[in-house]
Amino acid sequence: MRKNYFLLILISLSVLLSNAYAGEGMWIPALLKQLNEKEMKAMGMKISAEDIYSVNHSSMKDAILLFGRGCTSEIISKDGLLLTNHHCGYSAIQRHSSVEHDYLTNGFWAMSRSEELPNPGLTATLMIRMDEVTDRVLQGVTDNMAEAERNRIIGKNAKEIEKEIEETTPYQAKVKSFFKGNSYWVIVTQTFKDIRLVGAPPSNIGKFGGDTDNWMWPRHTGDFSLFRIYVGPDGKPAEYSEDNVPYQPKYYFPISLKGVKEGDFTFVYGYPARTNEYLPADAVALIAEKENPRLIKIRDARIKIFKKYAEQSPELRIKYAAKEARVANYWKKMIGQSRGIKRMHGIEKKRAFENSFEQWVNGSPERKKKYGGLLTAFSETYKQLEPYKLSADYLWEAGMGTELVLFASRFNTLVQESKKRDADTAKINKEVKKLKKSVQGFFKDYYVPVDKEVMAALLKIYNEDMQFPFKPGFFHKINDKFKNDYKAYTDYVFRKSLLDNRDKIEDFLDGYSPKKYKKLMKDPAFKMQREIVEMYKDNYNQKLKSLNHRIDSLMRIYMRAQMEMQPEKRFYPDANFTLRVTYGDVSGYSPADAVQYIPYTTLNGIMEKENPEIYDYVVEPRLKKLFKEKDFGQYADADGTLHVCFIASNHTSGGNSGSPVFDADGNLVGVNFDRCWEGTMSDLMFDPNVCRNITLDIRYFLFVLDKYAGAGYLLDEMKLVK
Ligand code: ARG
Ligand code: GLU
Repeated sequence: MRKNYFLLILISLSVLLSNAYAGEGMWIPALLKQLNEKEMKAMGMKISAEDIYSVNHSSMKDAILLFGRGCTSEIISKDGLLLTNHHCGYSAIQRHSSVEHDYLTNGFWAMSRSEELPNPGLTATLMIRMDEVTDRVLQGVTDNMAEAERNRIIGKNAKEIEKEIEETTPYQAKVKSFFKGNSYWVIVTQTFKDIRLVGAPPSNIGKFGGDTDNWMWPRHTGDFSLFRIYVGPDGKPAEYSEDNVPYQPKYYFPISLKGVKEGDFTFVYGYPARTNEYLPADAVALIAEKENPRLIKIRDARIKIFKKYAEQSPELRIKYAAKEARVANYWKKMIGQSRGIKRMHGIEKKRAFENSFEQWVNGSPERKKKYGGLLTAFSETYKQLEPYKLSADYLWEAGMGTELVLFASRFNTLVQESKKRDADTAKINKEVKKLKKSVQGFFKDYYVPVDKEVMAALLKIYNEDMQFPFKPGFFHKINDKFKNDYKAYTDYVFRKSLLDNRDKIEDFLDGYSPKKYKKLMKDPAFKMQREIVEMYKDNYNQKLKSLNHRIDSLMRIYMRAQMEMQPEKRFYPDANFTLRVTYGDVSGYSPADAVQYIPYTTLNGIMEKENPEIYDYVVEPRLKKLFKEKDFGQYADADGTLHVCFIASNHTSGGNSGSPVFDADGNLVGVNFDRCWEGTMSDLMFDPNVCRNITLDIRYFLFVLDKYAGAGYLLDEMKLVK
């Protein structure tokens, strides 16, 4: 019933929809035919929905993979070459890097298959199919059931569906919620485990413009890295082995050398992670006006310290490169998001919508019964949620923002196991072994003076912004005994702790026996994290959970109500890390009064930005030479320049990094890697005037591979379309 109800609402709309062009929307591939194909064709698409997603024959979906846990990647050759962003391969590249082999700085190119580098732990996941299972998942669920009970039944039903598939196929299955728990789909996948690094440009190409240009247009970043999927000799996914062979995919993408121009139809196919487009105004206000500013301030402090040390030596720069990038990325995103909401009057717009919603609800007794009081309930719940949400933010961002404290939290399981009356030695030994490995990883990129400065800075912010009981107990000590001398307190913690010293902690683990957990209990860094974790568990967790349950249940009803109220509107589900299609046109935008951006950048812009003094804007001599000689080969645009990036009105989000961008023929024209700053609020509210995704022009990728790196032999396994 419910399923039909939902599909019906969705599909009846596509018929009504005549005034094309939406720009907004992340669409379910399996519903493309019913919902979007007509519009996509009207916008210029020449292929069919069946070409994009089919379970009957090979289709484009067979060449798109979730890369690691957070990015998208695509297969571009018959031998399983996998293309993604430089920033998605960054940790892998960084892990292979040292001062002697600085692949981050100099790039890396395997000149033969034997030189391709394995990356233990890195996976790539292919979606085999997706099917709607709402009816089965909601079996036994009633409308007035408590949220916890509802979740229990849904969980049980979902498990059954997953188990059934996993027992009868070689694949994995996961049931996912769409439309805020109004609809469910099972996603069937296959995960590859031997993913080798094939090539990465130097950072001054792959991360050109660095964090200064991040989230910004005009952009000149060659944000790509290249991997290869290997499988066992039987063609099935397998852990790394020398005997593994390159994967032969069902489909791989032809690459277009034709480029794009203003107005061209494009679509993006990938894995957006999380969006929240249907929230009430109160929720948007909490995020944009309260949470973001605080998180920005905390991150600001960390970034400044990272930067200061990175400038001191190449070694420190490498150590902290990935950490800084991680912190800085969402720091800047949050700034853009809050500004964007303000600029588009997002909260006012939501409030105006809520007014008409109220009117609609009050227009019929039946609706009043179903939806009356919904918005007031939201308001009250968000008011209650606010202090908890904000202090939870401080716990994780400021409390656990010190590396030492976060590292100390990894020892909790060991302590718990050791404390037990009849401690299980096998379990403890296993944990010790795990920790020894984790110690190696931690100290490879750790530098005490950075972390000490971070700790002192974050404790200050935390102490000044939060009141008891919303800050952990160790602040009493800081306030009373240390008289708020954060540096003195930090010195004390580092002097007394054994966790900041690799030799000490390794000795400790080498000679570990259950009784020794007491030493950790006395360790000041361990104590800090314990107070943080316990405070969260005791004071927040329950409260946050129950408030979030309340919001989930309100949201589910509100979602349904919004759809019922606007039958002429075509709805798409919020992103939930499932494969989606989004489409739009190549188009510029106006970021500010009197300013108009055109939709593509060229190598000329790289030369304009060049600054040998600033790390992010150094241009390699070899690239300069190619520029001077205009040696662009077949990769030049018809206008004679070499295009680097372009923007279009595709609705993308985090997780869409690395996503393939296609032209009307379904040929690969680029790799998505970012959004324009003015439009980063699109996770909450989309504004077609300024929301643009940023794509690496595929011709720049080919140019770097061929002309710059001399790895043109890789082109032999690809299919280029002229
Ligand atoms: N902003 C892009 C994305 O969210 C690119 C991130 C690359 N990281 C960086 N700090 N420059 O992931
Ligand atoms: N760079 C982002 C990512 O890593 C994509 C940009 C965005 O959030 O739109 O997924």
